[in-house]
Amino acid sequence: MTIGIGLLGLGTVGAGVAGILATPEGRHPLVGELTLRRVAVRELQRPRPVELPAAILTTDPEAVVDDPAVDIVVEVMGGLEPARSLILRAIAAGKPVVTANKAVIARYGEEIAAAAAENGVYVLIEAAVGGGIPIIEPLKQSLGGNRIQRVSGIINGTTNYILSRMADEGAAYGAVLADAQRLGYAEADPAADVQGGDAADKIAILAGLAYGGPVQRSAIPAEGIDRLDSRDVSYAAQLGFVVKLVAAAQFLGTDADGTVQLDVRVSPTLLPKEHPLAGVHGVNNAILVEGDPVGRVMFYGPGAGAGPTASAVVADILNIAGIRQVGGSQAGLDPLLAASRWRQCRLVDPGLTQHRNYVRLRTSDEPGVIGRIGTCFGDQGVSIQSIVQFEAKGGAAAGDGAADSSGGGAGAAEIVVITHEVGEARFRAALAAIEALPEVVSVAACLRTL
Ligand code: HSE
Repeated sequence: MTIGIGLLGLGTVGAGVAGILATPEGRHPLVGELTLRRVAVRELQRPRPVELPAAILTTDPEAVVDDPAVDIVVEVMGGLEPARSLILRAIAAGKPVVTANKAVIARYGEEIAAAAAENGVYVLIEAAVGGGIPIIEPLKQSLGGNRIQRVSGIINGTTNYILSRMADEGAAYGAVLADAQRLGYAEADPAADVQGGDAADKIAILAGLAYGGPVQRSAIPAEGIDRLDSRDVSYAAQLGFVVKLVAAAQFLGTDADGTVQLDVRVSPTLLPKEHPLAGVHGVNNAILVEGDPVGRVMFYGPGAGAGPTASAVVADILNIAGIRQVGGSQAGLDPLLAASRWRQCRLVDPGLTQHRNYVRLRTSDEPGVIGRIGTCFGDQGVSIQSIVQFEAKGGAAAGDGAADSSGGGAGAAEIVVITHEVGEARFRAALAAIEALPEVVSVAACLRTL
């Protein structure tokens, strides 16, 4: 039985999918049953990495969805619209959808899931998170017997590629970003990568699956690497840490009505060098799932790029194709594959969360400064794990290109403090007191630490 595929988008991922479908030899036999019937492109005349018959190309994506020869709609065009409307149009027509679109799923996942349930079709999203790493289906199915305590990960390949090359080669941020774009890792607008929005979309999706309820994407605090100073990467390394862009969702408890309380965020984070995520380099992603009773399970692999992402898309197509082959459409939707939601989740006030911190202070270099900083932390009950002075100089502390002259005449220093785990509100109160000290020029950096 041949199954007709309609492809919305022939960019990096779309071309990867077309490439797999065109070369079924040596793959699962079901791949040979899939036929690319229509492909929506932005321009008809354009050099492409895959050769496709001109007759199946169209600039009208609705024509792909509506084509009676298309049984499964594969959305890899990206962006919010028209992608969302096309997905809903396919569902309304009773056609299952495979999408790699994390932005749409993170924002409109509930609307899409409700429409899919009403129409009895699957919408599968393995490619939306982690590129080639299977993480969506394991969260929906293989780990379903667990209570999930935490999902944390490096889930943006572009920023991990940039951070790895900056750390290893001392490479310049702009040049490495350009390489990431050339290699097809970055989003069309790389602001989503470097400012943390892409990782926030992905952790919203993972948290929703792990905790069984939608997570409000707009409430997730997200900080990227675009303001990260390379001296913090260097100081962290000297203290035994690696800086990574970490996205995490942590279970904190439940309300009386069963609503799950979560701390979900994206932030540049110091990881101890022995942490499982610390050894993830380049475009690779990794997701660490901590659950009861499974313990720690880590999923690792290439997180972006044509081949890995297309691998995940084709896996979803095969799932649907397999169900069609056994006539599964009459049996209703498998609740695990369809990812049913069974409770509500809410993000807690970030001021109520607890974590370790890295702080870099620019101060004057004179007797008693470290003591006074320690007192400010102590007054708020913040316990210090380590405090180190770097770069005492005769002049102002160099940093981020800004010359400070307000640090007093006794020279300038950079003091790095790592705290033990502490409530965010008490930590912020201590920082405010430190900032008010006359010897302190500025709080130059503040990073979360695992
Ligand atoms: N721009 C994304 C990344 C692509 O760098 O991870 C995969 O979602």
